[in-house]
Amino acid sequence: MVGMNVPEALLDRLRDRLLESGYTLDGVRERLGDVAASALAREELVPALRATRDGDALAALIRLWWLGVPVEAAELPLPVAGLVESGLLTAEHGTAVRAAVHLQPWEEGGYLVSDRKVRPGDPPLRTDHVVGAGGASANLAQLAARAPAERALDLGTGCGVQVVHLAGRARRIVATDVNPRALELAALTWRLSGVHERAEVEARQGAMYEPVEGERFDLIVSNPPFVIAPGGGLTYRESGEDADGFCRHLVRLAPRHLAPGGYAHLLANWLHVKGEDWRDRVGGWLAETGLDGWAVQRDVQDPAEYVELWLRDSAEHGTPRYAERYDAWLGRLEAMDVTGVGFGWITLRDSGTLDPVVRVEELTQRVELPVGGYVSGVLDAIGAAHRLTDEELLAACPAVAEGVTEERSGPPGAEDPARIVLRQTRGLRRTAAVGTVEAALAGVVDGTLPLAPLLDAIAELTGGDPAELRASTPAAVRALIAEGFFTL
Ligand SMILES: C[S@@+](CC[C@H](N)C(=O)[O-])C[C@H]1O[C@@H](n2cnc3c(N)ncnc32)[C@H](O)[C@@H]1O
Repeated sequence: MVGMNVPEALLDRLRDRLLESGYTLDGVRERLGDVAASALAREELVPALRATRDGDALAALIRLWWLGVPVEAAELPLPVAGLVESGLLTAEHGTAVRAAVHLQPWEEGGYLVSDRKVRPGDPPLRTDHVVGAGGASANLAQLAARAPAERALDLGTGCGVQVVHLAGRARRIVATDVNPRALELAALTWRLSGVHERAEVEARQGAMYEPVEGERFDLIVSNPPFVIAPGGGLTYRESGEDADGFCRHLVRLAPRHLAPGGYAHLLANWLHVKGEDWRDRVGGWLAETGLDGWAVQRDVQDPAEYVELWLRDSAEHGTPRYAERYDAWLGRLEAMDVTGVGFGWITLRDSGTLDPVVRVEELTQRVELPVGGYVSGVLDAIGAAHRLTDEELLAACPAVAEGVTEERSGPPGAEDPARIVLRQTRGLRRTAAVGTVEAALAGVVDGTLPLAPLLDAIAELTGGDPAELRASTPAAVRALIAEGFFTL
């Protein structure tokens, strides 16, 4: 298919025409409307085809690049002959043409070039399919630290979407992929997105960290082939490594490639295995690195849900081999005693400390985006809480973090609440059920008064024992600092 020697001048013309015709994220959103856009997310094309029936330039571009249906060449505001010659379009019956790739507008004024999404009824995916940007790509993009980086690595760049996000924030970016077709399509993405105006981008082919042996980066991002599948057939999602070994290696080897102060953000899947706490499994990966680490499970699926999700993703649902594939996959997971598969984020930071801290937790609530805007504060808080002794804590002057509110509930008419909850309205939007002492502290700490005398005052007001409060409260306060309810 696409033999990707597309002349740069042709790509520049293509980009100009796309922009002039309103083929942008907002333009497509407006033209399709909510109903057709939601239907498309469910792989239903009909509403989008109806919304683009009127044949103007924007409608024709949506049909061509996004919906992947044949379009009359005369309806397209494009250098059609050149695009056919370069392999980006193919001539259909009569005077119609069809896109050989999926080309969609993206954030940051970019365009992403990938293979066309497979839909139910399509022929099986080729093993070197280049996947377009999806929910996982967006999750990784919003997780990445926002601080400017001199050198960044995007491992497994695929259609090149992470580079579009990083360009400008990172000055030099190395993008790797084991699949040479991915690098060809990514090069089109970058050219159409103008990333070379914002960053120096270098593409390198190879597996894992091989293409960057001996090199270090201020920022590493990877949305890897994390799907846990028997055998591994589709490069865009399956590495062929057993179980969750690929993600583990990605984490384990990260310290060799992080510069001092650098961050690595990785998406991952991990197994929940009978008799093992998944937190210990993932915590073990992070602990091996000797870096500060934070792993968040955002979702967990049982084995059957997991297999169905990925068989749907490759449009195998309803095919003659569906039941056989489903059975074999499920059998493999069962043989490993798998009770579920977790989906999440992993962040590592080379803070240079000799006493690194690892936190593994489940967060399923909606969080403030982008997480990258405050991820360094999350790691700072986890580290500070871990490193403070009880004595240092009692002498510290915490304050309540911005946006923390308190909720009290209990039976009507009761003098004391049965439950007090602190809630973050910002950031990770955590909640914490607290006791009356922590709630009282939350009402008075303002960053100017040390904890110890505040606890003595609370003991006096409540008739408690000051020594006992000084001994018992630091653990709870440490947890509230680690979770960002109190700041230091
Ligand atoms: C899920 S896609 C991610 C694409 C893109 N970075 C994103 O965020 O949407 C994973 C990419 O990793 C690549 N890949 C698969 N195995 C790899 C390996 N062993 N080493 C490096 N890249 C690999 C695939 O070719 C694919 O492009």
